[in-house]
Amino acid sequence: MAVAPDPAALLAPGDPALEALARGLSRVYPLGSRVTPEGRLEIGGCDAVDLAREFGTPAYVVAVDDLRARARAFRSALAAEHQPGRVVFASKAFPCTAVYRVFAEEGLAVDVASGGELSLALRAGFEPADVVVHGNAKSDAELRAACGAGAGLVVVDALDEIERLGAAVAAADRDGPQRVLVRVTPGVKPNTHDFISTGQLDSKFGLPVDEARVAIERLQALPRIEVAGLHMHIGSQVFELEAFRRAVQELAAVGRFDVYDLGGGLGVAYTAQDLPPPIPEYVGVKLAALRAATDLADATVLLEPGRALVANSTVTLYTVESVKRGVSTYVAVDGGMSDNLRPMLYGAVYEAALANRMQAGGEPCHVAGKHCESSDVIVRDVRLPSPRPGDLLVTPATGAYGHAMANNYNGVPRPPIIFCQDGDARAVVRRETFEDLAARDLD
Ligand code: LLP
Repeated sequence: MAVAPDPAALLAPGDPALEALARGLSRVYPLGSRVTPEGRLEIGGCDAVDLAREFGTPAYVVAVDDLRARARAFRSALAAEHQPGRVVFASKAFPCTAVYRVFAEEGLAVDVASGGELSLALRAGFEPADVVVHGNAKSDAELRAACGAGAGLVVVDALDEIERLGAAVAAADRDGPQRVLVRVTPGVKPNTHDFISTGQLDSKFGLPVDEARVAIERLQALPRIEVAGLHMHIGSQVFELEAFRRAVQELAAVGRFDVYDLGGGLGVAYTAQDLPPPIPEYVGVKLAALRAATDLADATVLLEPGRALVANSTVTLYTVESVKRGVSTYVAVDGGMSDNLRPMLYGAVYEAALANRMQAGGEPCHVAGKHCESSDVIVRDVRLPSPRPGDLLVTPATGAYGHAMANNYNGVPRPPIIFCQDGDARAVVRRETFEDLAARDLD
């Protein structure tokens, strides 16, 4: 039985409605998840043990209703501000055709950061006019692909890009000007991991205000290019609304335009202790800051959430392969840094539980992966109830930048992606095979 997601419940973490939806689970699990009377985890109406049997492990398991609910929560938060605008899915967070399709159906636009993401987004059915093209090192081929496809907006990130963009626009056989945004580095460092901060002046992304003004002038001098507006993105997994407010203020000071793309960055809860700001509050702060600085009644505002749309929609299921009880207890599973690099790259903290025995408490453990290095620990210091080989281990909140950054370290095939809804499960990406590992070999 599936529980219909209620977007309103997304608006207030800790809200009793949300707690009820989660039914005894930590609120970082997908909406509608529950523990069955047999003590097993259920996602999108599907029993995790049955999923593991049918699709194998490791596997990314996605509650489709959760994706849709969060898209609607962003759209309604923006609509409540009575400002023309679009929610733009930052697809780097979960670049999977089926996920692109869900968000296209939900009326979102899409942000792509490479030729590959552009091709995936178009293939999945996004209208070219709804595509925002990013990249701090776009190649000529990427610029030509974007302009040739009729991408709605190209975000200029470097002075060196301008002439090449002009050539790509000239080569593209299309009606009307290519609309562009200029990415501004607002000089605001949010409180998040250095590796995912982008708003500080010492950054490879965007242009400081002075250079942004030069870029705008140069672009305005080119034929068939229209400077529609400005873009900023200060970083990711950010809880601090004040940083967003200051950055928007800096951006608005650059001048009046038709479009302000205020980026993404809203943090999510990876553990029950994390309390990110609710979506409407985040949207409200960004828009209020823009309004305070400009009289933008007609300006179009773009918001580019990635993580906040997808992170909590997904759990990863693993099989426990071995348990070593020594100085620490290491519970080793059949995946690891090949399917979730975030703990190793950013020290990201996840929860873990046994999906076949969803009990609280137990013995202190580290959940280790199967890879040949000691950094390959997915979750440290978690309590699991007498874990043993054959148990099904789950880590929630793996939808953002999990599949996106998956790799083949140690020749480990990447996991499938399973969509679950109303008790039905279907693989939307199959598991990689050993043949796939050799598919590009020419010798
Ligand atoms: N817009 C731009 C221009 C971006 O560069 C990004 C993310 C976003 C929007 C979406 O940000 P979000 O809403 O997801 O925070 N691999 C890292 C995250 C890198 C973020 C890259 N840019 C991680 O796993 O934490």
